[in-house]
Order: sequence, then structure tokens, then C-alpha cells
Amino acid sequence: MKDSNFLNENNARHMWHPMGHPGALQKDPPRIIKTAQGSTITDSDNNTVIDAVGGLWCVNVGYSSEPIKQAIADQLNELPYYSAFAGTTNGPAIELSFELSEMFKAEGMGRAFFTSGGSDSVETSLRLARQYHKINGAHSRTKFLSLKKGYHGTHFGGASVNGNNRFRVNYEPLLPGCFHLPSPYTYRNPFNETNPERLADLCVMAAVDEIEFQGPETIAAFIMEPIQGAGGVIVPHKSYMKKMRDVCTKYGILMISDEVITGFGRIGDWCGARYWGVTPDMMTMAKGITSAYFPFGACMISEHIAEVFEEGGPSIANIGHGYTYSGHPVGAAAALACIKESKRLKIQENATARGNQLFEGLKSLKEKYDVIGDVRGGHGLMTGMELVSNQENKTHMDAERMTKVGEKVYNSGAMVRVGGNNILLSPPLIISSSETNQILNALEEGLKVL
Ligand SMILES: Cc1ncc(COP(=O)(O)O)c(C=O)c1O
Repeated sequence: MKDSNFLNENNARHMWHPMGHPGALQKDPPRIIKTAQGSTITDSDNNTVIDAVGGLWCVNVGYSSEPIKQAIADQLNELPYYSAFAGTTNGPAIELSFELSEMFKAEGMGRAFFTSGGSDSVETSLRLARQYHKINGAHSRTKFLSLKKGYHGTHFGGASVNGNNRFRVNYEPLLPGCFHLPSPYTYRNPFNETNPERLADLCVMAAVDEIEFQGPETIAAFIMEPIQGAGGVIVPHKSYMKKMRDVCTKYGILMISDEVITGFGRIGDWCGARYWGVTPDMMTMAKGITSAYFPFGACMISEHIAEVFEEGGPSIANIGHGYTYSGHPVGAAAALACIKESKRLKIQENATARGNQLFEGLKSLKEKYDVIGDVRGGHGLMTGMELVSNQENKTHMDAERMTKVGEKVYNSGAMVRVGGNNILLSPPLIISSSETNQILNALEEGLKVL
């Protein structure tokens, strides 16, 4: 690699960054991350901090997994790539599909369609949902329902079911036929309801109202995250997903559980659907499947959907969808090694223990600092806090002050993700208790600047 003078001079000059203003980033270039170990990252000025972002909710087994690195190196030597389009396949992809169908047998998932990441997995699930209904002769079932505050990636389908307007408005018009339901977000909701269980019921009633208004026979699928991540770690009441499952079943609507964050241990179980006791029709996965050592994802398909495709007519049930890197042998080898490591390390158990520690710590901070409007978590290592400049009116803390807090937290020893007026915490699932305390201490230093 070129020296640091070169990197600093060219930082953001010739590269546009996701989710940022290209001009602003040229004036204030992003931090260069040089190396990483365990749960820590080191920047080009040699500052080492705890990565409370876990890369981007994804480096579940931490940065030093030798078995994953070795599996990638071995696979590169054996077979660096071959296409999985009709006619050829490869060993690691076959083995991974078997492993995943075993791992998610309880959810009824019998088939995997491999992708290069979360947005691809979401796109796959939406397309297959429409095709499923077409095979069944239900040609009018083309619409999608999703939740406000949901995040489902940035392809046109995913952005269309996305429930945050900052990812939508500059790209409109989006896909027609996508409708958004109220999120079970206790801190802010149009019903002014603060009881999570009652709010869940109101949201289910609103969903039924929308379905009946649209006409159930026009709706293909409902997609939701078991816990909404990028929208601010919004945890529904435990009854919500189950009740929405019942609604979907009643109206013949497929339920897609977007497990891109919640899959592979982060929520304290191997998937969010299992955590809430729900059997979805499809599950979208990425991130923790390889702990981000290789860009890879999967759309898992339930046995009963698979049956319809596999017994469908040659033209209508043919899958006219796929990616050059679907079933990439190196990605599949990375996923196999990552899943093995995740199970060996029992990362879901540590996610629960450290997640509770982080959540309790944030609750203590909330008692001390008025700027904390809400803290959310307690279900694995998905934790968030919402900052407000006025507790009573719940006025969002402005972007400038949010940036200042993020900077101070970093300089005090932890990288956190600032999203709107939320601070989102999703460290590697191998994080230790003392590292968790280091995040809490750094956060407190950050809060002091307000
Ligand atoms: C729930 C969910 N779905 C989909 C995506 C999109 O994944 P990717 O960024 O890998 O395309 C994300 C990304 O954060 C996500 O959180």
C-alpha cells in the first residue's frame, strides 16, 4: 500500500462514499482505518478504540478469526470462483446450503438462494414472493407491505419498502405498490401510546385496516426486521411479530423476516424469528453469515414455498434472477467457517450477556443525562439511545451536536455509529465485559460535551 501522505492527499478525492455528501467528505475526509484485532480498530493516526459498531453490525466473531481467514485462503487456492448459474456449482455452496437448512430447520427453511449481501437478499425475497403467487395463479398479488422506520437496503425494491425517508426521497419515484405500516415504536408513534403491548395491538389493527383497504388479494408479502436496526434499534413487544404472522397467514400474504442484522447470533439467538417464536416464509441474511470477511448473503426459502416452485411449470417457475457471485465458493467457504466459529464460541450467549450489560449501563446514563430521551436494547447486542434537546417535546438533537458527541466518544476510546439523533451500538459479539465498560465510559465522556 502507498504511504500515509498519499492516502491522506487522496482520501475521498476519487471515491464517493455510501451514505455521505461527496463534497462535504472532500472537505472533511473520513477516518482511515488501518488495522483491526479482536473487538478493536486502529486508525492511521495509530489511535486504537473499541469498535462499538462491529464494522456495520456485521463483524460478529471479531477481527481476528484465523479459521475464517484460513478457509478463505484455502478456497482461493482451490477454486477462487465459478458461476452457479444453471449447469455448474461448487462444493462449499452445496455444503453451506445443507448447513443452513439444518440450522434453520425449526423455521422451516429448506432452501437457500445465495447473494452478495443484504440488499441482494431482500431483492431476491421480494421477487420470489411475486413469482410464488404467479405460479399459484394469484396474478394480482404484487404489492408489498413493510414498516415505517424499517431498513431493507438500497436496491430499488429494498428502498421502496424502506421506511426512512432519508433513503427514499432523492430517488423517487420508487416501486409502485409498496405501502408502509406504523412501526411498533413506543417512544414515538401516531397513537401516542406508551404501553408496548397495547401499541403492538394498535399496529396490528392498523395493518389489518391497510390490508383490507388494499384488498388482500393484491398483496404479495410483508417484510419486517425482528428488531428494527438502522431505524434506531426499535424493539417491538414480544407479541407483535407473532400477531403479524397470524395476520399474514389469514390473508395469504407471505412473511419475510429480514434477518440481515438479527441473523447469526446478534439478537441472542441464531435468528430473530426464532427469538420471537415465529415461522416466516422467507428469511433474508447477510452480514454475520461471514462476519463480513467476504461479501455474501442468502435468501432462505421455506419448504412449502420451495415445493410450489419445484413442482411449478417449466416457464413460470423458472428463476430468472441471480447474481454473478451467487454461491461464490470463497464466500461460501467463509460462511461455513464463520458459522462453525460462531457456534464454537457460542457468540449468541455472549451477545445476551454483554447486551444486557450495555443496556443496563445506558439506562444508568439516562438517569444522569437529560439529553437521553430513550434507550433501547436488552435483546442481544443491538442497543441504541436517542438524544433529544428537549425531553418534554422530544426534540431531535441536531446533527452538529450529534457529530460532536460521536467525535468525543471516539477520542475517549470507542467508535459508535451516529444515525440521525440516535447512537447505535452493535459491537462484535465476542466483546468482553471490560471492553463493554470502556464503551460506556466513552459514551459518558461524549454526553458531557452537550
Ligand atoms: C435489515 C437490513 N436489511 C438489508 C440491509 C442491506 O444490506 P447490505 O448493506 O449488505 O446491502 C441492511 C443493511 O444494514 C439491513 O440492516
